[in-house]
Amino acid sequence: MRQNPSEYLFDVPRLRVVPPYHFLSAGVSYAYKPHRDTWYGAPPCQINTWMPVFSISPDQTMHFNTAYFQTPVSNTSCDWDLKDWIENQRSKAKSNVQKEARVHPVPTEELDTSTEMRFGGRAGDMVVFSGTHIHGTVPNKGNDIRFSVDFRVFHLKDIEAGIGAPNADSGCKNVEYGFKDYFHAEGFAPYSEDVN
Ligand SMILES: [Fe+2]
Repeated sequence: MRQNPSEYLFDVPRLRVVPPYHFLSAGVSYAYKPHRDTWYGAPPCQINTWMPVFSISPDQTMHFNTAYFQTPVSNTSCDWDLKDWIENQRSKAKSNVQKEARVHPVPTEELDTSTEMRFGGRAGDMVVFSGTHIHGTVPNKGNDIRFSVDFRVFHLKDIEAGIGAPNADSGCKNVEYGFKDYFHAEGFAPYSEDVN
């Protein structure tokens, strides 16, 4: 089905660099623990895209655990505030080199990894998934640097209606604070011009 770009928002595509784990796994190369993006303040309608820049094997990518899509996982997202992250924490990535001192929303229970999935991919392939799925970074235990590009997509009507995937367990505060990072897929006007 053909989609109309005028109905969509996106955020700026980002190049991610994951060097070997022993070299750097904090700050800009933080190895994400299992999480939902909604724990980090994503709206429930968020669709994630993820593309490897070079061909990549499943043990170098992300892990997904789709069994938990609607199953609550106890976590610390209630203590996490998107406004504080954007205003105070995000810029500290450059000073978190030896260790990730910034507080992230994380699970507080062991997850069943028997239902975990990993995808390999060739350059130009794209993984598309709901930001509500539990996912995380597979620690890069090899010697090659992992390069990937990702961005997020939102249907305008979903954002405006506040609808999307069911909220099983997210308690993040100030979700709307992230909307200023979004742009219209048609014309690239900032969404903040709509909401202010
Ligand atoms: Fe994520």
